[in-house]
Amino acid sequence: MPFAALLEREGAVLAPMASFSDAPFRLLASGFGALWTVSEMIMSRSLLQGSQGALELLRFHPAEGLRIAQLAGSDPEEVAEAAELAASLAGLRAIDLNMGCPMPKVVSRGAGAALLDDPKRAARMVELVRRRTGLPVSVKLRLGNRGESVLPLALALQDAGAALLRVHGRTARQRYGGRADWNKIAAVAAAVSLPVVGSGDVRSVRDYRQRRALGLGVALARGALGRPWIFAEVRGLAVDREEKREAALRHLRLHLSWYEQHGQTRALRAFRGHLGHYLAAAPAAERRRAMKSEDPALVEESLWRWAGAEGSA
Ligand SMILES: Cc1cc2nc3c(=O)[nH]c(=O)nc-3n(C[C@H](O)[C@H](O)[C@H](O)COP(=O)(O)O)c2cc1C
Repeated sequence: MPFAALLEREGAVLAPMASFSDAPFRLLASGFGALWTVSEMIMSRSLLQGSQGALELLRFHPAEGLRIAQLAGSDPEEVAEAAELAASLAGLRAIDLNMGCPMPKVVSRGAGAALLDDPKRAARMVELVRRRTGLPVSVKLRLGNRGESVLPLALALQDAGAALLRVHGRTARQRYGGRADWNKIAAVAAAVSLPVVGSGDVRSVRDYRQRRALGLGVALARGALGRPWIFAEVRGLAVDREEKREAALRHLRLHLSWYEQHGQTRALRAFRGHLGHYLAAAPAAERRRAMKSEDPALVEESLWRWAGAEGSA
């Protein structure tokens, strides 16, 4: 996985988002030129136990070329075993390790952001996953749990052979509050010789250009919800309203066929997270009606009317 070569191109990465960055949304993002995409977070132990939920998260669409799965866990041996299994089941091109998730149910198990305080264990995880799979390993970090320096950790991960660091510019304690500090992300990039991708609060083409000017790769998460075309816009391409509406409809149809085995009603309900974002500019009553609907034709009609209506990024 030539991360450095990909980052020379204009464009942004789709950051993993639990409940959102599934195969249909990843395909939309790639179609608009996302540099690469990453699966939702998968707990290593659940995968090794054969949990249906974990296997579902590892499902890639046949049209997805660059397959990268994100794994979380606390025990380096267990995560390496899960990585090997995931790589063979899904034909992965790289593994992304989550060392940034601040959710108590993840951290209390010694996974996610808990690893920020344990550079030795974090480095061992990278080394074992790399050795066991032979794949490049990227790592997702935050700016420490409470703002302590992550430079020792970043250097340890580099020595362990990590191929890329993706840094969310907040501490774990901040969760999603406050502003992401891109100067601190740039300080991490200056301390290592690895490519670094920053993430946090990029919502527009202007935001993207400002972050790019720091010499960093840029990942988008919430800024891409309801606006997958932002990946084309940050590459300097104009996307007109018609294309945006068509993209939203394409997303819905892809989603319904991807989750066909769950039945149409459940599949449509599972689209509501995305739908709320596509209908951000709709009047509240219309939005509510579409969000409650179990009729795909009505949802399509609302998408056609409101997707992309907020103007361009
Ligand atoms: C709903 C949601 C789910 C997320 N799930 C994950 C995840 O599974 N793995 C991960 O590394 N980061 C996850 N993140 C963090 C994002 O990848 C990203 O780092 C963060 O949201 C900051 O970027 P943004 O301001 O562009 O959203 C999630 C964020 C959100 C909002």
